[in-house]
Amino acid sequence: MKAVRALARKQPLLCLRRSRCFSTTTSGEVELDSICELAASNLRYGRGATKEVGQDLSQHFRCRNVVVFTDPVVRQLACFDTLQESLEQNGVHYTVYDEVRVEPNDVSFRHAIDFLRKDIYSYDGVVALGGGSVIDTAKAANLYACHPPKDFYDYVNAPTGKNLPIPGKVKPLIAIPTTAGTGSETTGVAIFDDSPTRCKTAIANRHLKPALGILDPANTETMPRKVATYSGLDVICHAMESYTALPFNLRPKPSSPVFRPAYQGSNPISDVWSLFALETAARALPLAVVENEQQEQAQSEMLLASSAAGMGFGNAGVHLCHGMSYPISAQVKDSYKGKAYEHVVDHALVPHGLSVIVSAPAVFSWTAVACPERHERVAQILQSARWQREGKARSTSTKQESSDIGLWLADEIRDLGHCLDVNLGLRQFGYNEEDIPDLVDGTIQQHRVTKISLRHVERADLEGLFLKALQE
Ligand SMILES: NC(=O)c1ccc[n+]([C@@H]2O[C@H](COP(=O)([O-])OP(=O)(O)OC[C@H]3O[C@@H](n4cnc5c(N)ncnc54)[C@H](O)[C@@H]3O)[C@@H](O)[C@H]2O)c1
Ligand SMILES: [Fe+2]
Repeated sequence: MKAVRALARKQPLLCLRRSRCFSTTTSGEVELDSICELAASNLRYGRGATKEVGQDLSQHFRCRNVVVFTDPVVRQLACFDTLQESLEQNGVHYTVYDEVRVEPNDVSFRHAIDFLRKDIYSYDGVVALGGGSVIDTAKAANLYACHPPKDFYDYVNAPTGKNLPIPGKVKPLIAIPTTAGTGSETTGVAIFDDSPTRCKTAIANRHLKPALGILDPANTETMPRKVATYSGLDVICHAMESYTALPFNLRPKPSSPVFRPAYQGSNPISDVWSLFALETAARALPLAVVENEQQEQAQSEMLLASSAAGMGFGNAGVHLCHGMSYPISAQVKDSYKGKAYEHVVDHALVPHGLSVIVSAPAVFSWTAVACPERHERVAQILQSARWQREGKARSTSTKQESSDIGLWLADEIRDLGHCLDVNLGLRQFGYNEEDIPDLVDGTIQQHRVTKISLRHVERADLEGLFLKALQE
């Protein structure tokens, strides 16, 4: 941690002086934090685990009447039948909401909330079967049905919303991911595109964490190659960003533990999860997305890696790749419709994992100077996975391949993209130099993530980063 370079943070802490949320010295200076915590999630991992959900609900959670959230594609898959059978065999009554939007927005969140609120007096639990879009929609609907706010934006992160505290617990939610990507089954975050501001934002609170995450490798095997690839790249970014986030002890100390943010910055506990996730995903992702004799094992490992990354970033946070991805997704042009996921034809979307990886070479070559040691570790992990797939002996050396660690890491990311057949350029979505001001506007308001960037980021820095991403 000490190795974080002095230039890392020039942001004055003085501006925080009078906030009641921060602890101050007798002279009124904001103190830095010295404590970190892991808000753990309950997880179960193994093939066939979906079959146990009915027993969990009836015996452990004492639920008799649940609402199952899913999307129209997942509803047609065998995993939905498995879930249905398990509920029926255990006498759990269920209603299905299958209208989740891929990459949800405020309109689709409100639709799901309205559906659940109609059922408010009778449902006693929620099951989410699907990718991050489904799990996030279920989290939001459950929260708003349990604690209806006066206004939709009351619980939404500032500055888009009021970020009001959530009054208490919500009904139990069991999250069953069918992608290996978001780690949403472990996090207290629900993300959506806010159409009025054309930016992604979130509702973030520990109460939103699912009561149980079920990691059943049988459920992710049906992912088309693009879904597996893009969601896998999300895992890689979660791990790289949480490991290279501002250290927790360079953030202001809260005046009470209740004010300690979920995104605390990198810390010794989240490092364990982030490094495990990165090592696993860097090796397993290329094997998980194409047919080969190790594919099944690799897919299973990717599912575990995605939850591990969720534990890491859910407690440390993500920074600029995610901050920049939110406007990249939310300002998507109509001309991009159907280009990423051919089966989603009713609206244009940039898959989340693709939206984060496109800025990664630019971001890490810029942040590396603030903590070269951590960036070097990340580059070594990617290098070692690359050598393994190229059949090179590990022994040669683990020294950097460029005198500049940031450039070396950027090259390793490009190589991974190349091996997965993923275009890392921002121009593919139809963006050009004229879009940069709007993309910067959309990023600058993402305080939740930009404030844990190792380097304090200003408008001009973001302009430079988007320009670099356009040049990929
Ligand atoms: N809450 C969090 O902590 C968190 C973290 C990262 C991302 N997210 C959010 O999650 C969303 C992205 O989620 P995602 O990447 O998991 O994808 P997704 O849920 O958007 O699904 C992508 C597509 O894959 C299909 N699909 C899902 N599982 C499948 C399977 N097993 N077989 C066949 N098709 C399948 C879906 O129907 C959909 O068409 C974004 O909105 C993103 O912002 C949330
Ligand atoms: Fe993500």
